[in-house]
Amino acid sequence: MTNKTYGPQTLAWSELKEKAVSLSTTSIASMFSDDPARGEKFSRESAGIFFDFSRQHLDSEALESLVTLADQTNVKEGVERMFSGQNINKTEDRPAMHIALRRPVDYSTYVGKKNVMPLVAEEQKKMYLLVDQLRSGALKGFSGNPITDVVNIGIGGSHIGPLMATDALKEYRTSDLKVHFISGVGGLELFDVLNQVQVDTTLFIVCSKSFVTSETLMNAQVVKDLLYSAGGTYAVENQIIGVSSNHKAMDKFGIAPNKQFVLWSWVGGRYSIWSGVGLALALIIGWEHFESFLAGAHEMDEHFFEAPIDENLPILLALIGIWNRNFQEISNHAILPYYHRLRFLPTYLQQLEMESNGKSVRRNGEPVQCETCPIIWGELGSNAQHSFYQLLHQGTEKVSIDFFLPVLSGMRNQESHDVLVANCLAQSWALAEGDPEGKGGSPHQHYSGDRPSSLILFQRLDPAMLGRLLALYEHKVYVQGLIWDINSFDQWGVQLGKRLTTGMEKNISDKKTVAPQPLKSALMQFHKWRI
Ligand code: F6P
Repeated sequence: MTNKTYGPQTLAWSELKEKAVSLSTTSIASMFSDDPARGEKFSRESAGIFFDFSRQHLDSEALESLVTLADQTNVKEGVERMFSGQNINKTEDRPAMHIALRRPVDYSTYVGKKNVMPLVAEEQKKMYLLVDQLRSGALKGFSGNPITDVVNIGIGGSHIGPLMATDALKEYRTSDLKVHFISGVGGLELFDVLNQVQVDTTLFIVCSKSFVTSETLMNAQVVKDLLYSAGGTYAVENQIIGVSSNHKAMDKFGIAPNKQFVLWSWVGGRYSIWSGVGLALALIIGWEHFESFLAGAHEMDEHFFEAPIDENLPILLALIGIWNRNFQEISNHAILPYYHRLRFLPTYLQQLEMESNGKSVRRNGEPVQCETCPIIWGELGSNAQHSFYQLLHQGTEKVSIDFFLPVLSGMRNQESHDVLVANCLAQSWALAEGDPEGKGGSPHQHYSGDRPSSLILFQRLDPAMLGRLLALYEHKVYVQGLIWDINSFDQWGVQLGKRLTTGMEKNISDKKTVAPQPLKSALMQFHKWRI
């Protein structure tokens, strides 16, 4: 990337800076009253998603300049680089080819010189067979009883995706299997799950791209010991599945070769739900539904690749994010789903966005010249209205928002769901328009408005729609990375903490070890209380 194509150095960036200043005295409410067609002008529909960004604080000129920004930063070329399997993850010297995992298998896809689709097809077949074996009862626990429970052991991208998606697609279950998750250490989570399952009828999936993550290995070891003491080597080999790119480590751990699933180096952990990491999901919703989850994501990939910038949902979503972060100086972005089944979506997007774009050096190692990823957080909208919406409406900090809303509830409770819809729409209206007069002139009941939000509206949350939504955000993140010129696919920021933890274990187990200066008093107190 030359400086001319670096976001903050482009002409469009300077135009946007000026535009933000000139728009600062125009309210969103007045933009609506001045233009009755604003709703249509500032919304797009594609792949079953209606993206309404009319309640963002921008006008047609600002939108045009944002589109120009994507053009001047060569976003489309960046998309081509990703889709053609180039090594876009330079610091780890690898491509980011999660899109291959959701392509039809006859769609040749090259990573370097190799068409990876036969490998993808082979892994999918193994997944399908496992789903089938469990469904038909062919795979039994070591005592001969049918498997009743599945426990996913993994953390970060090896945990949040399957957790979020199995919960989101509860209505699409095709099996009575119960699914559980163990991620962190500390023992309580493990204890709670092991209390709910019978070890002889439980299948454990150890998901870890690296297979060196200490939390995952610690939890997996406990499970392995339990299985071994209950049913010997046969139980371990029969009931532990491994998903990783590190076969050596899986062998060493004792995972049977026919129970190992591949996660390729060119798939990042937070982009891996489409691979064997999605096994828990496939087991719960069945293979057909899992395939439509993949097909939905592929549909979004095709849209992302083909649609012009002004109609391209991931690019527009990214541009609106950049408008808020870099030109409206909003540092917080909230994910607010109005649908109980999307309760883990904020957590999922938190990792996807902040681990990908929470960076301050450019791809060439120089410091960035603009703000990058905002702080992402969120909660179910309905609950959040009764906790932190106070700040959203009247706080000193502006927060940009993505509301998620299915039209249909998916259950026989549409009337109740309609109330949820009313709440979501009313909130986004109130945030945009405010009530500048304030009820009875009281300053305490004054709402400034101009608090920007977008609405992601879709008909129903089915497997294909979940696939589309996740792919939409994956690509949004990549586009922002292109404009900010950061590598969205590495995560070096997590390493220092891991390194220091290893050393810290000695301080915890041995009081006499010399504590690092900044932790002296905390460790002294710790040892005093550790009876
Ligand atoms: O520490 C961060 C991280 O590396 C994430 O990027 C990843 O999703 C998670 O840990 C788990 O890693 P693994 O799948 O290798 O166990």
